[in-house]
Amino acid sequence: MIRHIIAAIATILALWAMFFMYRLDQEADRFGQIHKIIEETKMEVKIEKHPEAVQPIEEPESIQQAPNGEAKKKEDEIQKQLKALKERAGNVMAFKVSPLYKQKCSSCHGVNGEGIIGPRLIGKSPDEVLQALHDFKSGKRKNYVMYGLLSKMNEQQLEDLAKEIGTFEQKLKASQQ
Ligand code: HEC
Repeated sequence: MIRHIIAAIATILALWAMFFMYRLDQEADRFGQIHKIIEETKMEVKIEKHPEAVQPIEEPESIQQAPNGEAKKKEDEIQKQLKALKERAGNVMAFKVSPLYKQKCSSCHGVNGEGIIGPRLIGKSPDEVLQALHDFKSGKRKNYVMYGLLSKMNEQQLEDLAKEIGTFEQKLKASQQ
């Protein structure tokens, strides 16, 4: 009888031990999986990082050199334009212009509308100029510089400017005689 009880207890202990081991295994498995996931993510990071760290050293330089070269070219162009701007600003005006034109427009279109950064305005009719100004102001003709500038000006000023610019050609000719 006692033997049977001991055997039963032993069996229960054995079963419990087996169950315990099974649980441990599961836990270990979970840890293993977590470990694997971590490893995999590490691998992914490595895979992504390496091509960036190794390849780009050669490629981006050549890629970057192009924009750098272009940027330099653009800078040179801007410097040239600025130089031209300064030279022209130093030039004696062929004829007088209104304070409004001088203040708002001459920096880009030249003291006498000869054109620098902005296009040449000499020879344009008042209607042409006014149309252009209206189109810039309404946004129909897209140019942020002209749009920003004109948004602060009223209709009367635009008309005055258009009228004045329309006289530039004649004034220039008169000054050259
Ligand atoms: C910061 C520079 C800048 C200033 C200041 C400026 N403009 Fe312009 N303007 C431009 C540029 C750039 C263009 C060319 C835009 C385009 O064609 O899209 C232009 C275009 C024009 C045109 C159209 C010319 C054409 O050939 O179609 C007129 C007219 C004009 N501007 C008048 C003026 C008047 C008037 C003022 C002063 C109130 C003025 N601009 C001030 C840069 C400027």
